[in-house]
Amino acid sequence: MSERIKDYWNQRASENSGSLTATTQDIWLRRLEVACLIGMIERLNLPAGAQIADMGCGDGNTILQLARQFPELNFLGFDYAPQMIETAQAQLAALGGLAGRVKFSVGDVNDPVASAGAGQLDVAMTDRCLINLETSAAQYAAIAGIAKCLKPGGVYLAIENFHEGQNAMNMTRAAAGLPEIAVRWHNHYFHEADFRTQTAQHFASLEFQEFSSAYYYATRVIYSAMCKLQGVEPDYDHPIHQMAVRLPMMGNFSPIRLAVLRKAG
Ligand SMILES: C[S@@+](CC[C@H](N)C(=O)[O-])C[C@H]1O[C@@H](n2cnc3c(N)ncnc32)[C@H](O)[C@@H]1O
Repeated sequence: MSERIKDYWNQRASENSGSLTATTQDIWLRRLEVACLIGMIERLNLPAGAQIADMGCGDGNTILQLARQFPELNFLGFDYAPQMIETAQAQLAALGGLAGRVKFSVGDVNDPVASAGAGQLDVAMTDRCLINLETSAAQYAAIAGIAKCLKPGGVYLAIENFHEGQNAMNMTRAAAGLPEIAVRWHNHYFHEADFRTQTAQHFASLEFQEFSSAYYYATRVIYSAMCKLQGVEPDYDHPIHQMAVRLPMMGNFSPIRLAVLRKAG
C-alpha cells in the first residue's frame, strides 16, 4: 500500500507539473493554507537566519512563496516522491535568486532527522503529509521525529486532517440532503483526543486554528447544495472558492485545521 501511495504522488507530480493542482484539485484551499502559514510565521517573529523545514513539501510551491515573503529566513523542503522534488527544483531554478536560502531534497517523514538533522529547526511544517501514513502509530512516530528536529522552543505547524471536522461537515451536508464525503483511499485522519495525548509527550503547548472551516462550509455545503439544486457538478474554478477564502475563522466544519505545537524552551 505505501508504494501505491508514493506512486500516486509521483504520478500527480508528472501530470500536474508546474500547476497548483499537483497536490490537490482545490487550488483555493492551497492558497488559503499558504495565507494561514504566512500569518503564523509573522506571529512567530523569528530571528534572521531562522531555519524552516516543510516535510512532505510536494512541488515546493508553499516554500517558494514563504521564501519570497520572508527574505531573511532559510528553508528546506523534502518529499519522498522524487518527481515532486524534481518539480520543486525546476521551479526554484526558474525563479532565480532563492537558491542560497532554499534547498529541496528527497526524504521520508518517517525519518525526519535524516533529512533535517536533530535540533536544527526553528519551525517544522507538514501540510496534508502525515495523513498519507497508513497507521496512527506511524503518524505519532513521525511526530516524535519532528519534535527531535526542533530546537528548544521550536514550533511545529501541522496542517493535517481530523475526523471531528470531517464528521461535522458530513452532518451538515446530510442536513442539506447531500451525500457523505468519504476519507480518500490513501488518507488516514487524526482523532483530536489521541492527537492531544500523543503530542503532549513532545510539546509544551498545542493550539488549533480552524482556518478552513468557513471555506469548507461555503464550498462543500452551501455551494454543493446549490449545484445539486441546479443539477450540475461542483467545479473548483467556481468563483465561490475565491470569495470563501476571505471568510473569517469560525466553526469546525472542515477536516483540515492547523495545529500549532511548541516545544519546551
Ligand atoms: C497532499 S500532498 C501535500 C504537499 C504539500 N505539503 C502541499 O501542501 O501542497 C502530500 C505530500 O506528502 C508527500 N508524502 C507522503 N508520504 C510521505 C513520506 N512518508 N515522506 C515524505 N513525503 C511524503 C507526498 O509525496 C505528497 O507530495
